[in-house]
Amino acid sequence: MILCASGDTHGALDRLFQDVAEFERALKVRFEALLHVGDFGVWPDPERVDRATRDHEGAGDFPRWLAEGQRARVPTWFIKGNHEDFEWLESHAERELLPGLRHIPNGRAVDIGDGPTRIRVAGIGGCFGPSDYQKQSNRLKGYARRHYTLDEIETAKSHGSVDVLLLHDAPLGVAIQKGSRGYVSNAEGLDGAVSSIRPRVCFFGHHHARIRAEVGGVPCIGLNIVGRPGHLVAVGIEERGREWRILGEWPEEGGQIAPVWPKSEPRD
Ligand SMILES: [Fe+2]
Ligand SMILES: [Fe+2]
Repeated sequence: MILCASGDTHGALDRLFQDVAEFERALKVRFEALLHVGDFGVWPDPERVDRATRDHEGAGDFPRWLAEGQRARVPTWFIKGNHEDFEWLESHAERELLPGLRHIPNGRAVDIGDGPTRIRVAGIGGCFGPSDYQKQSNRLKGYARRHYTLDEIETAKSHGSVDVLLLHDAPLGVAIQKGSRGYVSNAEGLDGAVSSIRPRVCFFGHHHARIRAEVGGVPCIGLNIVGRPGHLVAVGIEERGREWRILGEWPEEGGQIAPVWPKSEPRD
């Protein structure tokens, strides 16, 4: 099965699916699914965006996509980031948000494909928040819903065999390098989630950088923000066993870069 993983888009949906189409043409493949690591940009009402989003990129394409009922041209599953309309997202749980677009709630797993060729994808979206981590997820209200919780991690560990794990934040201890700035992820619990769930591969976003890491022997791939090299990574996954491989990345390093936000990059 050939899948494409996507980093943060912050509402640039036209650009995301245009890049996915170009990437498919370059690789001469069709993706069976697009897996998105959050900060998708679910802002149905431009008046309800959070402050960081208002100060940076705005609501983006989602309101128009919703009004027009646009279809995701590749079946897409995403987890939440820390910049979405959480209330709306949760009120639409378990449903297709748009034709071809589905949300994986925190701790849940979905099967993609049919019968023996299916693969299981689990997700833990949102970022680490020290004051909310130990709380029950159903006690978090409003903007606090941008944080994942320990009970959601425990749910994610309960699914048996998982092929791909999607995280928004980077597992604890992963070194992030963004230009000349370097730091280490403080996202408690995600390291244990990766080691315990033991997917074949784990993808994360949030830090807007292409990262190569390993946690408990599991390859962890940090994806860049839309328009930057390493925003999209294509992988081939064998139906059985633990084989997988990277087929390519998009946009390519050293290629023509056309950032979506030339002036002000959105926050993580
Ligand atoms: Fe984020
Ligand atoms: Fe982001």
